[in-house]
Amino acid sequence: MGSLRFYSSLVVLVFTISNSSSQNKPVSCIIPEPVLTKLLDGSYTITDNIKLCLPENNVENLALSDILSELFYNNTGIRPGIVLNNKEVKSGIYLRLNLNWDSTIGNEGYNLTVDKKSIRIAANKTAGLFYGFQSLLQLLPFKTQENITGTQKKLEVPCLEITDYPRFQWRGLMLDVCRHFFTIEEVKRMIDEMVQYKFNILHLHLSDDQGWRIEIKSLPELTKTGAWRVPRTGLWWDREPPQDGEVAIYGGFYSQDQIIDLVRYASERHVQILPEIDVPGHSRAAIASYNYLSCTKLPYKVNPGSFFQDVAGHPYNSVVLCPGQEATYEFLEKVFNEVAELFPFEYIHVGGDETFKGFWSECDSCKKCMAYNNLKNTDELQSYFIKRVEKILNAKGKNLIGWDEILEGGLAPDATVMSWRGQKGGIEAAKQNHKVIMTPNSYAYLDLYQGDPVIEPPTYGMLRLKTCYQFEPAPDGISPSYILGGQGNLWTESVPAFRHAEYMFWPRSFALAEVFWSPKGKRDWNDFIQRTNIHLSRLDHADINFSRSFLDVIIHPLKDDNGNLIIQLETEVDNLEIFYTFDNTYPDFHSLKYISGEKLSIPKDADKFSAVTYKNNKQAGRTISIPIKDMERRVSRKSR
Ligand code: ACM
Ligand code: ZN
Repeated sequence: MGSLRFYSSLVVLVFTISNSSSQNKPVSCIIPEPVLTKLLDGSYTITDNIKLCLPENNVENLALSDILSELFYNNTGIRPGIVLNNKEVKSGIYLRLNLNWDSTIGNEGYNLTVDKKSIRIAANKTAGLFYGFQSLLQLLPFKTQENITGTQKKLEVPCLEITDYPRFQWRGLMLDVCRHFFTIEEVKRMIDEMVQYKFNILHLHLSDDQGWRIEIKSLPELTKTGAWRVPRTGLWWDREPPQDGEVAIYGGFYSQDQIIDLVRYASERHVQILPEIDVPGHSRAAIASYNYLSCTKLPYKVNPGSFFQDVAGHPYNSVVLCPGQEATYEFLEKVFNEVAELFPFEYIHVGGDETFKGFWSECDSCKKCMAYNNLKNTDELQSYFIKRVEKILNAKGKNLIGWDEILEGGLAPDATVMSWRGQKGGIEAAKQNHKVIMTPNSYAYLDLYQGDPVIEPPTYGMLRLKTCYQFEPAPDGISPSYILGGQGNLWTESVPAFRHAEYMFWPRSFALAEVFWSPKGKRDWNDFIQRTNIHLSRLDHADINFSRSFLDVIIHPLKDDNGNLIIQLETEVDNLEIFYTFDNTYPDFHSLKYISGEKLSIPKDADKFSAVTYKNNKQAGRTISIPIKDMERRVSRKSR
């Protein structure tokens, strides 16, 4: 999309919405929607000699000014000069730390004021200045050839006043770097993308059955052996186990120097990195490196897929750590010693999910440990294990986070729970006065399908954009003070490349950003979709991949009262028209038009149904075609 058209549509959007706005209606094109936006008359014109004016000359401000200047250049093609020590200039964007604490905006909030003479961002802390600047960038047109070469005469920002601060302190995204490996450069790119939408936690899932991804100097086999698996493509769940003599060549890991660099990069952008070492389940890569860690002591190989048998014929692929032997805790002491040194964040995630406990009831060490510690069952053994890991972390000044399975057998005293199997684990933990991060698979699992499986790359489940937008991290019936916030998780079993990770993150993470930052009462789906369309153009300009699946038709095959197959159609987004065919041709706006609520019966000779969405006579979504026999299968699968 050309810049002028983009910019004028943006200005028109800002003003159109403001003219018709009621008190609660969003009035900006910013994602996440700010708490309060007041549009004023006129605009500020940005010129080539604009300056970024920061407070005193210290290291933090110098790092911030470099980052903001680069962001401004990437967005506009203009590189602003830097002026420190609170000086005033002719044409300036002023970033000022409040001399008196403004309790409305807290640690991360800001006030952004644009008048005809200047742009001003005020905050209590640097994080607020950073987020205020991100909002300002979203009010600007994106970098284009016209403004790089100076042929675009005016870069204007509407005069306005914004007061903004987050609803939740924990606004996370998780990237699983185990199932597929992503380079440090890709992880940094991820940080660049997420901070535009005011996410502040990047959770890195660093160990699993499919790979160990962080250098631990005292345990070199973890990356020599554990970081590598045999290469496989194709469906994750159909992949062959490693064959005898086959070499493990797919994988990678982050050296400690890379981690130190990444942590600094993240922290300069106000992102905390949450490291996860997943134990006692999902530990096959560690066990492949050090066989003594499992109950069986058998040799295991790093898993290239998700097949459901191990070399000993156990029914589950996840060989687990032995919690009954001291050697396991000595190993974990070494791992967490180095992890705690590398990551300054107060939390370390220890997993705790999906542990197959069958090994433990057959293991002499586990049985002895249970008898000695009076543990009634393997749930209590798991709880004993997590409590011991918590002691290891606490001794290093860190707090433990675990998936909601750590509730089984009793929570560790100060554990924070990440609720993923819905929200019930989080609710239970909050009732027990524990802190909670809500990341339910029903609203926040970004590895799920976002459009019809016939047209999307293969994965599982379904999480449409609209469902993400309906996520409520603070459910009724518990004190919201226990809910730190929420997080979107991208497991990467079916995500072999970073471009595809972007496709899965965006725009569903726009929705999550708004859920985590904006006031609940400001959520407005139709307005969000208008802003999403603008932001997808921004991502396009920045060469960031994303999905437009939310514009596709949704096809519901059903049975009528007589057992005949019928079809109903809908869209996630309002005001789309749907056209369809039954004759094996691609539909367009001359085809049959679907009337909302209509039940389509299947013509006798039809063997395929196709449908597509249109807006203003232009194709909006993709054409989706499903053979009639597959529709029958979908219905019978649903009714089972
Ligand atoms: C998980 O998805 N197993 C936390
Ligand atoms: Zn054991």
